[in-house]
Amino acid sequence: MNPILSVVLVHRDDHERGQLRTALETFTGIQIAGERNDMRAGLALANQVRPAILILELAQPVEDALNAASQYKLEHSDSAIFFASDVFDPDTLLRALRAGAQEVLRRPLDRGALREAVERVARQAARKNGAGAGASHGVVTVFCNKGGSGVSTSATNLAISLKRMTSREVVLADFDYQSGDAAFMLGLAPTKSLGDVLSAPRIDSASVHDCLIKHPSGLFVLSQPEHLDRVDGITPDQVANVLDILHSTFDLVVVDAPHVFNEITLEIFDRSSTILLMTEPSIPSVRAARRSLEIFQKLNYLVSADRVRLVVNRRGEQSAISVAQIEETLGMPVFGTITNDYAAVSTAINVGKPLCGEHNDSRAGRDIHALARKLVPSQSVEEPIETVPVKRPGRLRLFGKG
Ligand SMILES: Nc1ncnc2c1ncn2[C@@H]1O[C@H](COP(=O)(O)OP(=O)(O)OP(=O)(O)O)[C@@H](O)[C@H]1O
Ligand SMILES: [Mg+2]
Repeated sequence: MNPILSVVLVHRDDHERGQLRTALETFTGIQIAGERNDMRAGLALANQVRPAILILELAQPVEDALNAASQYKLEHSDSAIFFASDVFDPDTLLRALRAGAQEVLRRPLDRGALREAVERVARQAARKNGAGAGASHGVVTVFCNKGGSGVSTSATNLAISLKRMTSREVVLADFDYQSGDAAFMLGLAPTKSLGDVLSAPRIDSASVHDCLIKHPSGLFVLSQPEHLDRVDGITPDQVANVLDILHSTFDLVVVDAPHVFNEITLEIFDRSSTILLMTEPSIPSVRAARRSLEIFQKLNYLVSADRVRLVVNRRGEQSAISVAQIEETLGMPVFGTITNDYAAVSTAINVGKPLCGEHNDSRAGRDIHALARKLVPSQSVEEPIETVPVKRPGRLRLFGKG
């Protein structure tokens, strides 16, 4: 479901402009938002309509177009700039790239090259906007910039829940190369893992699929290796590559993300249609979430209201901070909450029986299941929606962390 891409065309030559327009009109998902034969008027139009793609003529003297492009890019970093040019010396090409151009189109126009360039922008836009709310396809990343916040518990159980409630192919990708314990939480021994993907001669669809393990629910898991030194030195490119392969072959990818902002997590976030930012009802945790949101803001992830979702884990009656206070502090609605249910969660982890698996019934499990349902509201739920339990016996509270 690619978004419609708007284009503004700026070219002095009516014939060249017409050729570009005609070619673009044959592509689906493209809308010509306007065209001008003059740079100043074209930029004014682009400033107003903020097209996804701005096509500018790059003619001698090239300075005018290069300056205009870099100025425009500064103000509209989300737009892709294409130059249409017959100036092809290496120095000009380099300057065009530095000015922020994404593509330089040759004359005579090569429609195939133009199509590929547009498709690249479409893919980036789809990644950026995500598959949207209620995505039945996409990458759902569970993240917290603080360890021990319930990321793995939520990611593994969400993945199980999504598998059980949809008829989709779901994979859980454990990219937490520092603690990676998702497979254990599912009671699986990681006989094959990301370590094997990295040691294969090349990362391709076959090598990635070879390294998945299958949970009895039908969920596939890309696990971390038992010995974490096997993924030492993993690069952002490798993570991006693996995630792209999983995304292209599975309907839903659930990611257990590392607890840091670095090049690896940025690659993961860029590919995520939904980022579930975990927090807990405590001051340090909410402060950590605020820092994450500041970074997400800088990365432009908050432009679309449903890309980053806030989830409060360990919600309890005696929590130091209420959900309303968290929402007020962070300026964002809480998408879901997971009850503080220490007995059930720790038993599930230690026994390797997921909270959202069959024959398991706990408050935290129900909450995560409800979260999964919110993520794919349009899916036909194959199992009856269970009723919310009235109240747990007080005995469990004895085990609660509070
Ligand atoms: N809803 C909950 N109620 C009670 N305890 C919980 C809950 N969620 C998680 N925990 C506990 O918190 C601990 C950390 O959980 P988990 O491993 O899921 O977090 P994480 O963010 O992945 O941590 P790590 O830093 O190890 O990656 C676990 O021991 C688990 O028992
Ligand atoms: Mg974890």
